[in-house]
Amino acid sequence: PKRIPHIFTDVLIIGGGIAGSRAALEIDPRLETIIVNKGKVTQSNSAYAQGGIAGVLDPLDDVTNHIEDTLAAGKDLCDRSLVEHVCHEAPQHIRELIEIGADFDTRDGKIALTKEGGHSHRRVAHALGDATGKEIMRALISAVHSRPSVQTWTKTPTIDLVTEEGKCRGAIIWNRYHGKTLIWAKQVILATGGAGCLFRESTNPPLATGDGHALAFRAGALLQDMEFMQFHPTVLYIAGGARYLVSEAVRGEGAYLRDCNGVRFMSEYHADQELAHRDIVSRAITDRMQKTDHSCVYLDLTHLKKSLIQERFPNINHVCASFGLDLSKDQIPVRPGAHYMIGGVKTDLQARTSVPHLWAAGEVTSTGLHGSNRLASNSLLEGLIFGAAAGKGASEAALNQPDQYSASLLSDWESEKGSDEDLNSKDLRNSLASLMWRDVGITRSASTLQNAKDKVDFWSRYVVNREFKNLSGWELQNMLLVSQLMISSAIERKESRGVHYRSDFPQTDPAFQKHISVISTH
Ligand code: SIN
Repeated sequence: PKRIPHIFTDVLIIGGGIAGSRAALEIDPRLETIIVNKGKVTQSNSAYAQGGIAGVLDPLDDVTNHIEDTLAAGKDLCDRSLVEHVCHEAPQHIRELIEIGADFDTRDGKIALTKEGGHSHRRVAHALGDATGKEIMRALISAVHSRPSVQTWTKTPTIDLVTEEGKCRGAIIWNRYHGKTLIWAKQVILATGGAGCLFRESTNPPLATGDGHALAFRAGALLQDMEFMQFHPTVLYIAGGARYLVSEAVRGEGAYLRDCNGVRFMSEYHADQELAHRDIVSRAITDRMQKTDHSCVYLDLTHLKKSLIQERFPNINHVCASFGLDLSKDQIPVRPGAHYMIGGVKTDLQARTSVPHLWAAGEVTSTGLHGSNRLASNSLLEGLIFGAAAGKGASEAALNQPDQYSASLLSDWESEKGSDEDLNSKDLRNSLASLMWRDVGITRSASTLQNAKDKVDFWSRYVVNREFKNLSGWELQNMLLVSQLMISSAIERKESRGVHYRSDFPQTDPAFQKHISVISTH
């Protein structure tokens, strides 16, 4: 067997999206920081974000409105004091992004603000029309690159966190130069993002496989709300095309939803019509698809000004044009897809997890901001605020920690056994995503959840303890574990609330106004 190389750093940040990058900017430059990224620096859900980032920037709006809108969407599961903290901090964090060079769209010399579902005012700042995440990440990545104390390692998946006596001590990563490598760190920040790829229909890039959720669970961290996966109502549905998000801001600017018979149907489901909360719109679309026996519904922008479409949605316009759709004449075929993982690693106001020396921020966490249904454009905000908090906390802790490494504690020999050649992980990944979409998707019930549990448990029995030597194998192990956590939490929540809808328990039950937590018993 080969000995695993050891590398030492003060702070290790796992994931380089908005939360991880923002965290890096808070680390004291006297400390060494390594950011490990599974893919390229530009590949993250953050960089894919379209609509924008929410914050009260209009004098006619008020922070109390942002707080109340967030609480209303979350359906009695938000942590009120945390929501208040985030909404109060929002404008300052958006201004800081502007200071580091993020170029938000403006109108009449002020930041232009759009509307999305559940917002009582225009308060969503956007950039490049409909590519807000791309612009924010450009600014953040360039700020991170200008720091000599921060190294960014790309194409470096994390295989597991390393713990000793219950404390996080670093992580085993895979690196193209050294293979399996142990990075010792005084403090570790988990910012790995979401898990949309557990579902066949998703807006997420292929890297969003719930790795951080799985790493944290295996390291003994407390997770909560794992049953809450948010589905976005409008994902482009064209055979052969990627499942491209069509931003909620399109409806915010006035687009209609129509069924295949041309009927504008949302008024039959909710008074807020196209701008009702996402869970309501997603379920209405699914219901309409079933009633009309058609595989999608349509977004209609034909009544909007051509110049508005081109100015506000240049990328959506471009993608649709590549499929021969002219948005001033043609309607966009859409249907819902998995979008945002609400549940995750439980953290406090300082971004601490339940494991000492492990911090977490962004989509991998459950801070209590979103409750059971996230308000649109609150997630980039959450990543920023708690990324900064995690960076600050980890930095202070690492500065006070001596350089003491006992590098002998691990069996740090890379095993040569355990070939995975007999397992087609791609095939299993596709089967899992289809199963999750069918049985653990927008509508669930005891029987669909039990069926999913039986299958995922069976697959896990021969996959979870296998020694993989490649990314697709590690991802598959993580996806199976996160699916198990999601399914068991969904079975336990015998009610409907927010994004979790059970056809056998369609009502919200006050007895379930609580979080469902999961923690490893090993
Ligand atoms: C969108 O542009 O519709 C996505 C915004 C979000 O998910 O917050």
